[in-house]
Amino acid sequence: MIDGYTRTCGLIGNPVEHTLSPMIHNTLAALLSHNLVYVPFHVEKDNIFSALKGAYALNLLGLNVTVPYKSQIMEGLVSVDELAEKIGAVNTLVRTEGGYKGYNTDMPGLYRAMRGEGIEIEGQEVVILGAGGAARAAAFMCALQNASAVYLLNRSYDKALAVAKEVKEKTGKEYIYPMSLSQYEKLPDRKFLAIQATSVGLYPDTERAVIEEEAFYRKIHTGYDLIYKPSETCFMKLVRKQGGEAYHGLKMLLYQGIIAYELWNNISVPEKMAVQVYEILKKKMGVMDER
Ligand code: ATR
Repeated sequence: MIDGYTRTCGLIGNPVEHTLSPMIHNTLAALLSHNLVYVPFHVEKDNIFSALKGAYALNLLGLNVTVPYKSQIMEGLVSVDELAEKIGAVNTLVRTEGGYKGYNTDMPGLYRAMRGEGIEIEGQEVVILGAGGAARAAAFMCALQNASAVYLLNRSYDKALAVAKEVKEKTGKEYIYPMSLSQYEKLPDRKFLAIQATSVGLYPDTERAVIEEEAFYRKIHTGYDLIYKPSETCFMKLVRKQGGEAYHGLKMLLYQGIIAYELWNNISVPEKMAVQVYEILKKKMGVMDER
């Protein structure tokens, strides 16, 4: 029941209409008997900083930030968490004295999701496909969690080079190697964990993968696609066809939300509850299989 004590959290971005975040946060609030609602706010580019000021003035407890504002919004914050500062993007704002503090829960969300699937990062050789915002977060995650090597493959080599350079500088890890997609044949003759962080294969473009040659997938023992719609991407099918394990990104979405909720409410969400929220998300997305 919304009453005079109800706290509000929300999402700012453009577009926000297809978001699953209200489902995550309103379910958590219900399960935890918190008097809290989560609402999406469609914000136009020119209004981003006035929206932030307005949110503070309206006593909003916290916000998520999505495309295209994850970097731009940082200028308007009173402080930024060290990890988010490194990554150069925030997706969660927590109300503090005088304004909002920015965090990045995408990266720890990806880590928690992968650990939940039993995927180790430490000591792994990882191939990341892409060099956009999602790939950057994945590259930082791998470097900070002590992967033994990270191969960053992107259509435009220059972007891969720039991301690799930045991750190296900010984490002090040397073994980040930029490559163009077509150079995958030059990967060492071993098997890799691959993180698919491009937008290729995202609904409705479901019949495509960023690399379609079977030779690439013979080098992959585990494939993690950050895309969750569809729940079995073409990338995942190609990994499985060569005998690898494949996962979609719905758990990453789940855990970035759970970590945000934990920050806003200064609690830790029991794993049992995370599973309950995940079941609801899966139902909404029509996910049947969990191989
Ligand atoms: P996000 O924030 O979701 O990562 P982004 O920053 O726009 O989105 O990045 C999209 C990624 O998908 C990039 O790595 C992009 O490659 P380029 O840097 O070469 O543009 C990649 N990508 C998008 N469409 C692609 C395509 N048709 N083939 C190969 N890579 C593609």
